[in-house]
Amino acid sequence: MALSDFDLVLFGGSGDLAMRKLLPAMYARDVANDLPPSARIICVGRADASQEEFLQTVETTSKPLIKSPAVIPAAWERFTRRIVYVSLNATDAGSYQGLVEALRKDEAITKVYYPATPPAIFAKICEALKENGLVTPNSRVVLEKPLGRDLASAKQINAEVGKVFEESQIYRIDHYLGKETVQNLLALRFGNILFEPLWRREWISDVQITIAEKLGVGNRMGYYDTSGALRDMLQNHLLQLLCIVAMEPPTSIAPDAVRDAKLQVLRSLKKFTPTTLAQNIVRGQYRAGHVDGKAVPSYRDEPDAPEHSRTETFVAMKAEIDTWRWAGVPFYLRTGKRMADGLAEIVVRFKQIPHSIFNQPTNSFQPNSLVIRLQPDEGLRMNLMAKTPGDGMRLKQAELELDFREQFKSPRMEAYERLLLDVLRGQLTLFMRGDELEAAWEWVEPILDNWESDDSFPLPYASGTWGPAAASALIGRDGLQWREEVLPED
Ligand code: BG6
Repeated sequence: MALSDFDLVLFGGSGDLAMRKLLPAMYARDVANDLPPSARIICVGRADASQEEFLQTVETTSKPLIKSPAVIPAAWERFTRRIVYVSLNATDAGSYQGLVEALRKDEAITKVYYPATPPAIFAKICEALKENGLVTPNSRVVLEKPLGRDLASAKQINAEVGKVFEESQIYRIDHYLGKETVQNLLALRFGNILFEPLWRREWISDVQITIAEKLGVGNRMGYYDTSGALRDMLQNHLLQLLCIVAMEPPTSIAPDAVRDAKLQVLRSLKKFTPTTLAQNIVRGQYRAGHVDGKAVPSYRDEPDAPEHSRTETFVAMKAEIDTWRWAGVPFYLRTGKRMADGLAEIVVRFKQIPHSIFNQPTNSFQPNSLVIRLQPDEGLRMNLMAKTPGDGMRLKQAELELDFREQFKSPRMEAYERLLLDVLRGQLTLFMRGDELEAAWEWVEPILDNWESDDSFPLPYASGTWGPAAASALIGRDGLQWREEVLPED
């Protein structure tokens, strides 16, 4: 569907997100000829820079980060002609005159406001837009995480933004939903007859969802130390993946059909009590170690880290969903920084066969599993038992593999490219609704409260490992193992 003309306004236009992700994503879509000829990107910043100075910053900061598609000089020039720089103080409605003048008056031109700023000023920006008459039915606002740090602050953001924009104008981004494989999971579940009958407690033994990073906190300590892995990754990305795996079939791909189905999952998650929480959640913090053979420092020795920080950089938990479909099926969720490998994957393990007809004991059969790989490579792998060639009847694990890059040669889209196109198209399916956001916070809140009131420290783990040993014990208690423990050669 061709996009209609738009003015995209990036608040925090010279900030990290705009330079690293948003401008490169828009460039990629421009090269692909997705953008209408007169569409513009208005970058808003506090700095009193001229248009030329700002474009110079884009040239030196953003352009070198563009790897694929490679920068073509003529296309880059066309792209930079779309960029307009406006200097204003985002929290001062009286300073918005430059933006009012820069925006085209034609109501038919979609106006998208994207505060790529700290969430503390989202509400102020929305109010200022309203005060300056910049909000019309054809305006949209994009909100980036962290959307709050607990239920109360998330509610506050929702309420304040809701005074200015209708829910149908609000695009809450979770960039994991823009990843190709996540959408492929929808295709897998609802475009095939094969899985749905098996997608339930009778046939599935457990589900593991892991997002592991090799990176540490880097230069984001100011933000990260007040957040931690639970807020930074689990409350949003991991829970969104869990929702896509566990939701009931929506009646269509329409935004509210999908979002209602996800909301139902969030509301069905079994609440933790102080006792169940202590038994089912492990938090850790990385210490010095080696990642890819390189020595890396302890979290507390990273630049600007508080000496006695209690912030977790790793969480593993066993969650449960109280529905007929999922009762009793453990969902193991895990995320961490400075881990042994960088990957994101979902592993759905099926139950053991009930009886072996072969001269092999039942427990020598690896249960079937479906591995949905989000990164670094994108694909699906189904593990099956197959006969080994030759004489006799020996069964061994074999793999059916679908590598999306191999299968579909078409160029990939970064998550932000896909999501920005959806915003510009007015397609809300891959964005979180306000009630979803609140339901996710409501579920993690008892954990946050418990950790706040408890003065113990996260468990230490060496960088370059899979987290504290307690994480293996957590899943081991149920007689299971994390995938890398089962398949060390992988
Ligand atoms: C962000 C987190 O939302 O996701 C970061 O704030 C994290 O801490 C990042 O590194 C991971 O995203 P991806 O797409 O690189 O897996």
